[in-house]
Amino acid sequence: MSKTNQTAEGQNRAMQRYYVLQSQIYDATRWSFLFGRRKVVHAMPFGRQAKAHILEVGCGTGYNLKYMARYFPKASFTGLDVSPHMLAKAKKQTSAFANRVNCQARPYAPGESAFTGQLDAVLFSYSLTMINPQWRSLILQAKADLRPGGFIAVVDFHDSPVSLFKKHMANNHVRMDGHLLPVLREEFTPLHDEIRPAYGGLWQYFVFVGKNA
Ligand SMILES: C[S@@+](CC[C@H](N)C(=O)[O-])C[C@H]1O[C@@H](n2cnc3c(N)ncnc32)[C@H](O)[C@@H]1O
Repeated sequence: MSKTNQTAEGQNRAMQRYYVLQSQIYDATRWSFLFGRRKVVHAMPFGRQAKAHILEVGCGTGYNLKYMARYFPKASFTGLDVSPHMLAKAKKQTSAFANRVNCQARPYAPGESAFTGQLDAVLFSYSLTMINPQWRSLILQAKADLRPGGFIAVVDFHDSPVSLFKKHMANNHVRMDGHLLPVLREEFTPLHDEIRPAYGGLWQYFVFVGKNA
């Protein structure tokens, strides 16, 4: 079975296996290709002093949680990650903000009931392209978990003209088919909607912030 064509349970297990080793080199390597992570935070339409509750789905090692905790000093955060190895790093990295950052080692799943209609924003940073096949149901889950007028913020790979590169990414669990933006644009009112080239066009990534009706 292809790494991007499996069941949700299979996806969860694949992530747990993949990140046993990757968690050890993640922060040393990802700066060179996960572009736009600061930009998506800056594009969130909150004042710096907002007392928002923000969920990051697939928070990984806590890179964004730590940055957001500094950037929004009165906000509180929940980070979910299916990989206990990544989550352990996130807990360590955000320990100075433990009163405002709550990290939980569990998958985000359709039918999630912890946040219904309560969140001010949901951030997916380079997680949705790895969440196959259930990416669409998790976008809809985020919509259900946002308060009316809340925001979804997504930064991720968009597409590539180079089929060998797409194959390489698929072997690393990333689906890069331009499949996310059309659904995000349909489900949310776009406030920030940008596609950018990386490495001279080897691939494109996007930054999207949308408002929940
Ligand atoms: C490429 S990393 C991104 C980490 C972080 N958001 C960042 O920008 O550095 C993708 C993360 O999503 C997590 N993930 C994948 N599927 C998930 C799911 N269904 N629920 C929660 N986390 C998931 C993986 O374990 C991994 O830590």
